[in-house]
Amino acid sequence: MEQQKRYGHFDDAHREYVITDPKTPWPWINYLGNEDFFSLISNTAGGYSFYKDAKFRRITRYRYNNVPMDNGGRYFYIKEGDTAWSPGWKPCKTPLDFYECRHGMGYTRITGRKNQVEASVLFFVPLKTWAEVQKLTLTNQSQEVKTLKLFSFEEWCLWNAATDMENFQRNFSTGEVEIEGSTIYHKTEYRERRNHYAFYHVNTEIQGFDTDRESFVGLYNEFSNPDAVVEGLPRNSHAHGWSPIASHYIEVTLQTGESRDFVFLLGYVENEQDKKFSAPKVINKEKAHALIARFDTTEKVDKAFAELNAYWDALLNIYKVKTGNPKLDRMVNIWNQYQCMVTFNFSRSASFFESGIGRGMGFRDSNQDLVGFVHQIPSRARQRIIDIASTQFPDGGCYHQYQPLTKRGNNDIGGGFNDDPCWLIFGTVAYIKETGDFTILDEMVPFDNQPGSEVTLFEHLKVSLDHVINNLGPHLLPLIGRADWNDCLNLNCFSWDPNESFQTTENVSEGTKAESLMIAGLFVVTGKEYVALCNKIAKHEEGQRMQRAVDAMIEAVKKHGWDGEWYLRAYDFYGRKIGSNECEEGKIFIESQGWCTMAEIGADEGMVAKSLDSCKKYLECEHGMVLNNPAFTKYIYEYGEISSYPEGYKENAGIFCHNNPWVIIGECMAGRGNDAWSHYAKILPSYVEEKYQTLHKVEPYVNCQMVAGKDAFRPGEGKNSWLTGTAAWMWYTVSEFILGIKPDYDGIRIDPCLPETAGDYTVSRKFRDAEYDITIRPNGSQKGVKQIVLDGSPVEGDVIPYAAGKHTVEVTM
Ligand code: BGC
Repeated sequence: MEQQKRYGHFDDAHREYVITDPKTPWPWINYLGNEDFFSLISNTAGGYSFYKDAKFRRITRYRYNNVPMDNGGRYFYIKEGDTAWSPGWKPCKTPLDFYECRHGMGYTRITGRKNQVEASVLFFVPLKTWAEVQKLTLTNQSQEVKTLKLFSFEEWCLWNAATDMENFQRNFSTGEVEIEGSTIYHKTEYRERRNHYAFYHVNTEIQGFDTDRESFVGLYNEFSNPDAVVEGLPRNSHAHGWSPIASHYIEVTLQTGESRDFVFLLGYVENEQDKKFSAPKVINKEKAHALIARFDTTEKVDKAFAELNAYWDALLNIYKVKTGNPKLDRMVNIWNQYQCMVTFNFSRSASFFESGIGRGMGFRDSNQDLVGFVHQIPSRARQRIIDIASTQFPDGGCYHQYQPLTKRGNNDIGGGFNDDPCWLIFGTVAYIKETGDFTILDEMVPFDNQPGSEVTLFEHLKVSLDHVINNLGPHLLPLIGRADWNDCLNLNCFSWDPNESFQTTENVSEGTKAESLMIAGLFVVTGKEYVALCNKIAKHEEGQRMQRAVDAMIEAVKKHGWDGEWYLRAYDFYGRKIGSNECEEGKIFIESQGWCTMAEIGADEGMVAKSLDSCKKYLECEHGMVLNNPAFTKYIYEYGEISSYPEGYKENAGIFCHNNPWVIIGECMAGRGNDAWSHYAKILPSYVEEKYQTLHKVEPYVNCQMVAGKDAFRPGEGKNSWLTGTAAWMWYTVSEFILGIKPDYDGIRIDPCLPETAGDYTVSRKFRDAEYDITIRPNGSQKGVKQIVLDGSPVEGDVIPYAAGKHTVEVTM
């Protein structure tokens, strides 16, 4: 058999993915930064940096969907004689003698070798730092003295990434820089309302520089062959308008075996209004100097890097599994948790598929992301919950998105997505169960960020569910509004105008009968959680009130939401069924199967089992479960965007990885461990790593949002990697439902659901001030804990009661 082409492999010992061929089938990227300063970096060093908000504070420029692909980045050119090359292969694209890119936890190391000179660049954003460090190490591995010319390159974005790409009549005249020693400062618009600037520094003397793009590159050249590099001569250009850049020029002589480090620093600074200038027109550089001083030697950089590694050690030590199956262990212990942290930081704003200008933080998205990282950094989860709740309206509805910089609701998209409010319960409950911190419920939180409108967070939870209860349709099922989780099922949109946005247009909604079974299931799941929470904090009456609403919803689903073999998906504007065997296309949808089985609606009547069987029969294919089946083959005016996609892509019968876990959890609730596992393994990156190399195309170390479904022209192609709710759902599914370690108010509930082939495994879990070493012996059973022994004594039931300190737990199934 022919060996399949491979572009890389996992290195678990170092928690890295190692890319060995720069021409990956799509740029395979990584993320740098934890809190305020962030960078995207591809395997050829493409990408960009921003401060907090990828739209409003873009620091460096990047060209999406360009020719060639992945254009713009932090580039190094090394010139020896007539040969110029780049350690990451791009932009020079000179063939290298060796290439390797190691994407790790918050860092990327790219190494290239040409003619016995090795250039290795370590990129990372140190903790609590508004800067990207680039430590370049040049080594002469030859037997002769090497004389090299080194050029660095960054292109500044004029801050607002959207206007930067369109307002050229202004942009070409505003660019301003300052040059001081080895530091190039970007200060466009600093003279007026901006109090921030950026800089690019290197910790050595330079022999030249460039700050004007055209002088450096040449108007008709490309990044691969800038004039200055081709001629081996910097222009010492000073940008006035046009496109400012930052490029250092350094002459380097290396003896045989000699190695030299250069620390480049891309930094961001904010100044107080009255301290903006040190002299007329001269920016105050005090903070920049201080920042530079923190990283001006290799030792300081190495120390900061060690701190970053220790930070990740600590984060990844909270939940650790040992199953003896490296494919599972590496996803649980490393990559799934890492992807969760990235989605927490970025929501859906900036990836190589999300341009960073289109979307802020999603209300539902961020709540779901929270379950992926709450065990690691609960204090930030707490803040996130408050931020999200502050964008809610008094009636429980909410903005669909908010901007991270201002934390204000985004008016461009507005509200009206009727599933949104329920997710606040989902996120908040996860937080309290992890931390035991009930005080969050008493936090005073405004509506729509309006001072004076504050009520307790608990009140926000209450109005969230009331929003569903107050918006029921003719079958007593939740009205869908603009859309539910599936942003593309737009049942009140009715658009024939291609200039209208499917998501924000409601041409008709007066008198709508459009109802959602997905929200019905979500309401039951989160409603039950709310009832349990009420009982926990002795709000019994409120708990009973909600229990009645939950019971009524369950009845409504059984009566009006069941199609015989599966749950319906929705009712349309006119009250006609969607996702029914009666329909010509789109007979069955995954979302309602997932949520109604998770909610166990009609379990006793056999509905859950039938629904799960139907998923296997109609939705499952080689690469996972498709969203709906059969795919829509034409545009349906009453359904909106979903039918705008060609068959098998995105919401029209793509494998939307995000919702596969819903069915998997449904399987786990039903105790069907074999089925749960087989669905899970189909979309688990490490299990299908081979497929990623050529078919899926996107990064093999993380989940992507969508894999083209069975009806697609090219089934199996992956798209929209990294920023997807899939990350948190995969984590929630495997950590709590498959491996069965579930945080609860009073302790940890142990309730695994496994394939019958599963062997013994251990989980070490830090939980509040306790640490549990848990050994689970499945004995061939898929579900059902027989006995738990805690520190040598048997425990009643399936919850290990919380107590600070170290504990050993033995579980027999
Ligand atoms: C969005 C989610 C949405 C999903 C399905 C994603 O791109 O971020 O909010 O639920 O698509 O439409």
